[in-house]
Amino acid sequence: MGFKIGLLGLGTVGTGTVQILQDPAQRHPLLQEIELYRVGVKSLEKPRSVSLSPELLTTNLEEIVTDPAVDIVVEVIGGLEPARSLMLKAIEHGKHVVTANKAAIARYGAEIFTAAENAGVYVLLEAAVGGGIPVIEPLKQSLCSNRIHTVTGIVNGTTNYILTRMQTEGGDFDEILADAQQLGYAEADPTADVDGLDAADKIAILASLAFGGRIKLPEVHCEGIRQISAADIAYAEKLGFVIKLLAIAKRDFSATPAHLQVRVHPTLVSKTHPLASVNDVYNAILIEGDPIGQVMFFGPGAGSGPTASAVVSDILNIAAILKVGRGAATRSDGTPLLDPLLACSHQDYCTIASIDELVTRFYARFLTQDYPGVIGKLGTCFGNHDVSLESVVQTGLRGDSAEIVVVTHDVREGNFYEALSEIRTMEAVSSVASTLRVL
Ligand code: HSE
Repeated sequence: MGFKIGLLGLGTVGTGTVQILQDPAQRHPLLQEIELYRVGVKSLEKPRSVSLSPELLTTNLEEIVTDPAVDIVVEVIGGLEPARSLMLKAIEHGKHVVTANKAAIARYGAEIFTAAENAGVYVLLEAAVGGGIPVIEPLKQSLCSNRIHTVTGIVNGTTNYILTRMQTEGGDFDEILADAQQLGYAEADPTADVDGLDAADKIAILASLAFGGRIKLPEVHCEGIRQISAADIAYAEKLGFVIKLLAIAKRDFSATPAHLQVRVHPTLVSKTHPLASVNDVYNAILIEGDPIGQVMFFGPGAGSGPTASAVVSDILNIAAILKVGRGAATRSDGTPLLDPLLACSHQDYCTIASIDELVTRFYARFLTQDYPGVIGKLGTCFGNHDVSLESVVQTGLRGDSAEIVVVTHDVREGNFYEALSEIRTMEAVSSVASTLRVL
């Protein structure tokens, strides 16, 4: 018996998927039972780097998701529509779905997983976060005995590449972004990557799995890296940090009921932290839980082969279940029950705390007039708002202004920004040049 795949999309990930399916030797023997049955594309004329018999190809994607012969629909077209509608139609027609589409899952996960649960089919998404890095399945299965505290990830390769180059070359964001675009490391429209939106989609998915509830994407606090300057990278370096775009989901056990922080922002990370040495386009996800402690997953977060590795592994997971039969368990209407460790069946939404409630350390850089007492005034103002300073550095002048950098102890975000509002009104302060959170 073979398992028939309807592949939607033959771009980078689709091509990588076909390459694995066409070359099963020395991989898992179950791969020999997977048949690439139909491939949906936008254009039949476009030259392809994989050879496929023409009768496999169609531009009618709807025909694939409704074809009674198809067992598993693999959605690698990306974007919101028609991906969402095609996945829902496939589910409605009793097909299992494998997807790499973080944007659609982060926005429509509730709708898609409810439909899948009702239809008794699986929707697997290992490729949606971290490309080839196994992190979805570990969260669902291998780590399921843990009480997870924190998920901290570098989950966007484009921004990690830009920040790594800013760090090593001392360049500014705009020039390195332009070069990254020339070299193909950043999209012509880099918005989703550099503004943190791609990372927000991914941490929403990871948080949902780690903390067992749905996440409303608009509640994820999101800041990108456009405002990071060469000066901040240099100060961070002097203070023993690197700057990384982190996606963080953390459970606050002290609140009742326990709530979550889910956020994406550039962060000063101590050079001794395990995520500090994750450079270039690589991704890594550090998971902390009880009793596991820390476990980190590292690897290629994008690219044809790595992402296809995750897609095909999901196909094989579903094929393995289909091969041994679905088990006797069904609901009263005869719909098969799903393996609870593989399906996403959360019903409730997680409570996400406002960013003002966050308690964290901050880095801030000020341009001020250079006369006696300015550092003292800054310190007094912070102190009046309950913000305790860990270090204050003044290394020289930027133009006519003195440049003062402070790092705080843990403070409530709301207090820190109240202090900053007051500092902005001080005559001696020309500007608050930057503020960043410190891990
Ligand atoms: N644009 C993403 C990144 C890759 O730069 O990591 C796909 O998720």
